[in-house]
Amino acid sequence: MRLLSLSLRDFRNVREARIDPSMRATVLVGPNGQGKTNLLEALFLLCTLKPLRATRLAELVRFGAERARVEGEFEGAGGVRTVAVEIGPEGRTAFLDGKTLSSSDRLDAFFEGRAAVCFSPDDLLLVKGGPDQRRRFLDRAAFNRWPAVLSEAREYLRALRERNAALRHSAPEVEESFREPLVRTGARLVARRLALVAELAPRVAEAFAEISGPEADVARLAYRPAAGIPVEGTEEEIASRLAFVLAQRIGRDREKGYTSAGPHMDDLTLALGGKGARPYGSQGQQRALVLALKIAEIENLRDEQGRPPLLLLDDVSSELDPEKNGHLLRHLAALPGQAFLTTTDRRLLEPAAGEGAIFYRVREGTFERDLPPVIPGG
Ligand SMILES: Nc1ncnc2c1ncn2[C@@H]1O[C@H](COP(=O)(O)OP(=O)(O)OP(=O)(O)O)[C@@H](O)[C@H]1O
Ligand SMILES: [Mg+2]
Repeated sequence: MRLLSLSLRDFRNVREARIDPSMRATVLVGPNGQGKTNLLEALFLLCTLKPLRATRLAELVRFGAERARVEGEFEGAGGVRTVAVEIGPEGRTAFLDGKTLSSSDRLDAFFEGRAAVCFSPDDLLLVKGGPDQRRRFLDRAAFNRWPAVLSEAREYLRALRERNAALRHSAPEVEESFREPLVRTGARLVARRLALVAELAPRVAEAFAEISGPEADVARLAYRPAAGIPVEGTEEEIASRLAFVLAQRIGRDREKGYTSAGPHMDDLTLALGGKGARPYGSQGQQRALVLALKIAEIENLRDEQGRPPLLLLDDVSSELDPEKNGHLLRHLAALPGQAFLTTTDRRLLEPAAGEGAIFYRVREGTFERDLPPVIPGG
């Protein structure tokens, strides 16, 4: 699936714009506050129908305008299709080849292999933030990998809510009847996450080494259950262990009124050279680690599903030292698929943006094609 063109109208600070992206790297260059991230946000909306950072869709509509529109032409197995998303007073509407997509239409036809993975400065929270950030990453990545995870995770949350209510308000026998669905759906979710971590862990180590250079510490990714659940084994084994742990903790869970073990409490270990990346990693190392996580996810999707997602990299180079930045860019240049990168300083991305890179200068919501880099000796 390749993006052939992208058009914006009244989206954020962009009145009207058209971008003809590279089949590899498209680089958006401009000072702060000009519209670089806004363009990534438009792309993300087009690929996922979800806002990247806006909390309300209405934020995406240009001040003083009635509706925002993003449109892209994608070339895939079935030929070229035009995909559009509009945000108006009535909310969000998606179009496929000019036809409105009603909520009853199958969304997989709409997405048809379009996916986007974004890396922005906020993603540092994956390392710096609490376990909920890492659980969200895991479940999103698991959902990208196996779409069924979306409903499986919802079933678990429902079972958890019901059991917590039973812990607070019901007799012991009643609580027990709520434990079985919790154990069953919880074990399923843990098994999914374990399978995903098993796929990602070697790729994270490899990508981190690529970004950071051969001398760097080894990056390790592991699942960390909150309470005595094994990190391997079949779903049945996980279920029986979870049932055992819940039975052990019943007194205290009743007292506190909530379930103290299970996937909603679990975490992900991120370590560099055997030490925790959160307490001991430097800002640049933490950033490289988060990038490695995202790259691992992309490479895994490409290999397991046969299609690379669009890679959106917002301001990645500013906090990496030149050497790490060089490693990163060489690695990205070797990735398949299309990438969009933003920077305030063109020189940061120029040396290694790769063959076929296209540069745009961004100013007050306008995008102007810029000269390609001069390749020394070329
Ligand atoms: N709905 C909107 N209508 C008009 N302008 C908007 C809207 N939402 C945001 N903006 C403007 O968009 C600009 C920010 O754009 P963006 O976040 O893309 O900047 P940027 O180029 O990524 O800058 P930086 O380098 O600082 O990250 C701000 O000037 C903001 O006022
Ligand atoms: Mg920005």
